[in-house]
Amino acid sequence: MPLAEAITTQRAIRRVKPDPVDDELILELIELALKGPTAQNEQGWEFVIVKDPDVKRKFGQLNRFMWRLYRRIAAHKARDNPAEQRMNRAVQWGVDHFEEIPVYVVCCFRGNRLGFPPVVAASTYGSIFPAVQNLLLAARAVGLGANINTMPLWSNFAARRILGLPFGLTPCVMIPLGWPIGRYGPTTRRPVREVTSLDRYGNRIDGEAT
Ligand SMILES: Cc1cc2nc3c(=O)[nH]c(=O)nc-3n(C[C@H](O)[C@H](O)[C@H](O)COP(=O)(O)O)c2cc1C
Repeated sequence: MPLAEAITTQRAIRRVKPDPVDDELILELIELALKGPTAQNEQGWEFVIVKDPDVKRKFGQLNRFMWRLYRRIAAHKARDNPAEQRMNRAVQWGVDHFEEIPVYVVCCFRGNRLGFPPVVAASTYGSIFPAVQNLLLAARAVGLGANINTMPLWSNFAARRILGLPFGLTPCVMIPLGWPIGRYGPTTRRPVREVTSLDRYGNRIDGEAT
């Protein structure tokens, strides 16, 4: 699949079938994820493939708890926005079917360094997200549904405990993987000229300063 096609049709797929996903395929996706850059080429990542029903159940409970806390805020934010309301319905589906999703890949990074100074936190998250995006694109290329899910990790302490992670490893993202019920398709994003400046913020490329 051409890269531009993969990029332009990769979107958050939350509704997936319970059918199993081959372990070798998951390893191939993670291998492609590992081609991403990290700060100082540290490669301090660790990936945990979650398939065990008991582990899923524990994360499912955490996810439901967090969604119960956040749901009203999300609904309020989406009150005049049908696209956001659709997204919230998809999130609700993911919450309701959490344990049926065949695989999750928890992407972790070395270092419990999310506090001070901010540059350290930026390096930690900045080092895992290129790998995450690679994984999403690799999943797209083979037709597997995937998404970025952080809600089950909002309690980092609980997530660490469930996975038996050492304190020095931070779980950053939990990627659900499965064969899609729906389709991949083009995403809606803001126009490039609306978000790009030349030399100074607000100096738009077409010359219209905002
Ligand atoms: C940092 C980050 C955290 C996210 N956390 C969640 C999450 O907890 N649950 C969820 O369903 N989607 C989550 N998402 C997915 C976004 O909602 C999704 O990528 C965005 O709405 C764009 O979707 P689209 O590519 O289908 O347009 C997260 C995305 C990012 C980048």
